[in-house]
Amino acid sequence: MTMRVRKAVFPAAGLGTRFLPATKVIPKEMLPVVDKPIIQYGVEEAMASGCDQIIFVTGRGKWAMEDHFDMTYELEQTLEARSKVELLDVARQISQMVRVASIRQKVPLGLGHAVLTAKDLVGNEPFAVLLPDDVMDAAVPCLKQLIDVFNQKQASVIATQVVDGKAISAYGVLDAKPVPGFNGRLFEISNLVEKPKFEDAPSNQAIIGRYVLTPRIFECLENINPGALGELQLTDGLRALLKYEKMYGYCFEGKRYDAGDKLGFLKATVELALKHEDLGPAFTEYLKSLKL
Ligand code: G1P
Repeated sequence: MTMRVRKAVFPAAGLGTRFLPATKVIPKEMLPVVDKPIIQYGVEEAMASGCDQIIFVTGRGKWAMEDHFDMTYELEQTLEARSKVELLDVARQISQMVRVASIRQKVPLGLGHAVLTAKDLVGNEPFAVLLPDDVMDAAVPCLKQLIDVFNQKQASVIATQVVDGKAISAYGVLDAKPVPGFNGRLFEISNLVEKPKFEDAPSNQAIIGRYVLTPRIFECLENINPGALGELQLTDGLRALLKYEKMYGYCFEGKRYDAGDKLGFLKATVELALKHEDLGPAFTEYLKSLKL
């Protein structure tokens, strides 16, 4: 029996230390890129890919994320009373967008542990994982590209991008060979390594923050030991899953911004502002006027 991917898990318990002092009180997922908080990009991508159940794995001080997708009664009342129809629409679209379930990751033991925390909310069905820091810009939503492959192969699929040079050491990396017939984008995985040294990286196919996983991953995550950085790594759980099931990497079509990093955040802000329907033209003129 084939199953639809309905649930999307967002590991979002991190302290956002790369973004201090901005993230001392505000969750990094709530920092706005142009006019939306980072988390909203991921949630919209999940919904545009067919998921209708959103699961946040959060930590202390992260309530603003849940509030963002809840109804803001006072705001909506005030906008209605003032006949601010367009703004009311914006506020309502978000609160009516989706229902969110959340669960606390009480101790920050790593990404593998964060995903395992969602086990009971996911249950025995395939599901998506989206790392909110990775903001994607793609004609077909990145997660949708993975789900299309999942629907054909009925096996876990991980998004990748080519990363050349020493930067590869910041990623999980695939050892994999291309599957014929997918424009060189699909890879069958034989191994995965988390944050290898440049010399040891098995390829330049870096894992990025979108996954479609079979529920057997939970059993695998329950049995891994701390890996890179002393953390329970999702990549190590995936390597364990490979013993039982096939797994694929998909070099997605589109662009990824690492919005959890200050420079990546600025790149996302500038490029998405340039493309923004209302702001784009004026912002383009402004950047040109800087004559850098
Ligand atoms: C995590 C994953 C890593 C992946 C990366 C993508 O690492 O562990 O495999 O390549 O996300 O953004 P982190 O960036 O949390 O160190």
